[in-house]
Amino acid sequence: MSSKGLISSCSLTPELLEQAYGLGARQCPSPNEQLTLVFSQSRALDLVELEQLLEAVGWSRRPLRRVRRALDHSLLKVSLWRHDSRMPRLVGFARCTGDGIIDATVWDVAIHPLYQGAGLGKHLMDYILEALRDLGTERVTLFADPGVISFYERQGWLLEPGGHRCAFWYTS
Ligand SMILES: CC(C)(COP(=O)(O)OP(=O)(O)OC[C@H]1O[C@@H](n2cnc3c(N)ncnc32)[C@H](O)[C@@H]1OP(=O)(O)O)[C@@H](O)C(=O)NCCC(=O)NCCS
Repeated sequence: MSSKGLISSCSLTPELLEQAYGLGARQCPSPNEQLTLVFSQSRALDLVELEQLLEAVGWSRRPLRRVRRALDHSLLKVSLWRHDSRMPRLVGFARCTGDGIIDATVWDVAIHPLYQGAGLGKHLMDYILEALRDLGTERVTLFADPGVISFYERQGWLLEPGGHRCAFWYTS
């Protein structure tokens, strides 16, 4: 995956999109013709595949039972698939928690390393913000790792002023 230039790929019919990827599924602009990419909010996730994706971007594995519960309690789960009629591949993911009306927080934003640098992270964030807007969410927050702050800043996210308004409590 390299250039961001060309945005075209085979287009799926709305029926096929919904059948394979669930209600609200939408094609993601693709960096090349061979690659058809789809956002889904409801296609079933294979937790092992999800954890492999998150491990590929450098995060530690988590117990799958806890991941399942965290997903069940999430407001929004967005997966990005490399379309294949037999076996779509998970290439990106993010989820949100919160009430979805006043607040939502974005977590676990990841694009597989093989697909990074092609604009997909930005498309993923656009898709999430649109879905949250559709829910009527007023404010969206996230906690950016130091190495990706400018990824979000470029998209218009505001840094909390002076780092003074954020508090954490780790229970263990
Ligand atoms: C961060 C991440 C989601 C970005 O996805 P991506 O598909 O590579 O990003 P894009 O190609 O859409 O990049 C969009 C823009 O952000 C820039 N960008 C991408 N990653 C960046 C980074 N780590 N730091 C600063 N800018 C970055 C790109 O250069 C591009 O800039 P441009 O629009 O001026 O050309 C992806 O690199 C990733 O999964 N990283 C590992 C997990 C992670 O750190 N997630 C965030 C946790 S807070």
